[in-house]
Amino acid sequence: MATKLVYVLNGPNLNRLGKREPEIYGSQTLDDIAAMLVARGQALGCGIEMRQSNHEGHLVDWLHEAQDEGAHAVLLNAGAYTHTSVALLDAIRAITVPVIEVHLSNPHTREDFRHRSWVGMAAKGTVAGFGANSYLMALEAAAGL
Ligand code: DQA
Repeated sequence: MATKLVYVLNGPNLNRLGKREPEIYGSQTLDDIAAMLVARGQALGCGIEMRQSNHEGHLVDWLHEAQDEGAHAVLLNAGAYTHTSVALLDAIRAITVPVIEVHLSNPHTREDFRHRSWVGMAAKGTVAGFGANSYLMALEAAAGL
């Protein structure tokens, strides 16, 4: 089975997972999630390219890179940029690689300002509300595309 390259891009404050509001985001760190994704990816024939940045432009650059590197799909948890970034919306529209929006929490059950998702306007689909499992569910969906 040929390996499908899946970029997993994580936005601001997700480097603090495990310590950051664990009652909302859980106790697993981003490294824990990366390890889960690599293990599941092996079973699904997917190679995982895991990245995190607190800077919006890095996420834009990595979306472009995913296209240039021939990625099969991108999982994107843009953190708070989800709700603010027209640049990310445009970047997703600027590539043909399918992007799956991921959230640990369910933004629709939270503050009003989290109800709008610029990422979701261009994403293939969204998985939200299942903690770290949101990433695994999104990877399963990506592998099946
Ligand atoms: C989040 C939800 C966002 O609203 C928030 O700004 C985050 C994390 C999530 O994974 O639940 O930083 O993307």
